[in-house]
Amino acid sequence: MKAKKLTGEKATDYIKDGMIIGLGTGSTAYYAIKKVGEMVRNGLKIKAVPTSKETADLALSEGIELIDLAEAKSLDLTIDGADEVDPDFNLIKGGGGALLREKIVASATDKLIIVVDESKLVDNLGSTFKLPIEVTPFSWKYTQQMIEKFSCDSEIRKEAGEIYKTDNGNYILDCDFGKIEDPIKITTELNKLPGVVENGIFAEMAEIVIVGYNDGHVEVLE
Ligand code: A5P
Repeated sequence: MKAKKLTGEKATDYIKDGMIIGLGTGSTAYYAIKKVGEMVRNGLKIKAVPTSKETADLALSEGIELIDLAEAKSLDLTIDGADEVDPDFNLIKGGGGALLREKIVASATDKLIIVVDESKLVDNLGSTFKLPIEVTPFSWKYTQQMIEKFSCDSEIRKEAGEIYKTDNGNYILDCDFGKIEDPIKITTELNKLPGVVENGIFAEMAEIVIVGYNDGHVEVLE
């Protein structure tokens, strides 16, 4: 909790008056959004693009002005969390189900700042977290069979016993690939499958990773 708050708040140091920023999703991005809200109430002038309905609700309740990505055209920076970060700043995201909007927003961003606690740092993606893959509900079981040809075990994400639906009305397959040696290759191959909407590997997108430690210190990796 403390580590997430420290890193989330630290990332707001990069925000300047007049910027258009992306707001991530999850329990770490939460602290960044709360801090941005405080800064806005103290006079900061920014506009923001949210990466989920949950984040949009939070941002609006904090008094942050939201705009559509088409209006923004490009973003000065985005602050978002991650489920795993490797030494080259490749990421697994999507634990909270927001990976599609997160990847669209990240791709429109000049500087992607990732905020994580120390537990998210790994030597190889896939070491501790299954890769979330967003798939179309139509024939998702067939898409699952195609994905499993890449030597992974997968399960459909459920919530309260029902298939979990993303903000976009799609499903998520959580896929255990074991250690992912070549994130770029996997993300490229997965996205060639027609039933795959997007996968949770964010390769070579993050510019800054801010790590919060439980002992109270924060490390900025660039
Ligand atoms: C949302 O879909 C995710 O990509 C989150 O950014 C990621 O799961 C990190 O979330 P926490 O900060 O809650 O761990």
